[in-house]
Amino acid sequence: MKLCIALDLPSKEENLKLAKEIGEYANDIWLKVGFRSYIRDGNEFIFKLKNLGYNIFLDLKLYDIPNTMADAAEEITKLGIDMFNIHASAGEKAMKEVMKRISKFEKRPLVLAVTALTSFSNDEFKKIYGNDIDIKAKEFAKTVFHSGLDGVVCSVWESKEIKNITSNNFITLTPGIRPFGEDAGDQKRVADIKAAKENKVNFIVVGRPVYQDKNPKQKVEKILKKLKEN
Ligand code: C5P
Repeated sequence: MKLCIALDLPSKEENLKLAKEIGEYANDIWLKVGFRSYIRDGNEFIFKLKNLGYNIFLDLKLYDIPNTMADAAEEITKLGIDMFNIHASAGEKAMKEVMKRISKFEKRPLVLAVTALTSFSNDEFKKIYGNDIDIKAKEFAKTVFHSGLDGVVCSVWESKEIKNITSNNFITLTPGIRPFGEDAGDQKRVADIKAAKENKVNFIVVGRPVYQDKNPKQKVEKILKKLKEN
């Protein structure tokens, strides 16, 4: 299981400071660049992180018509990042088009699709998607798998079941991780490292529990140690 840290701090300087502070673990850690920093700091910021030796997950959750998504996916691939994501609810046609377009590159990033945002309660989700999260997330996951993507973004609580109905090699990446039971904030379906392991998660995403900690480096070390335990 790999640790992916969300760089959601208020400024580029603070994000870079954190990335440098934990730089000695660059080989073991992925960094997640999301809307906030990408919109503000752009590609130059990504290249700086790559130069520090990190793998980068560009979390832009693409959702648009198939051609526009595939165009964006091509541009993302040219950046040389390592993983990005799209919304499963964009549909099979869009997902297949994205994969078709980026497969012409010699090296392409991993592509994941979001099933259900971890901030949704079941009621909120049902109002939009017309069914319960656990049913719909599995349905989405099957379509994502058959569309040729590498995996899904889901909650820990769906990870094992999704692997059962797709493949053990199908990647699950799970936000909403509170490694040692920290405050959930706006996340609804949170889990700790133990639960993530039990549910065969491949990547855990941790944001606030690391960057809001008094000592982020120590927190990262504690998480990495826990990940290595059996
Ligand atoms: O601070 P926290 O650990 O809750 O951060 C979780 C990160 O994962 C945030 O950057 C959020 O945008 C992202 N995310 C999420 N749920 C998803 C996909 C991404 O919380 N389904």
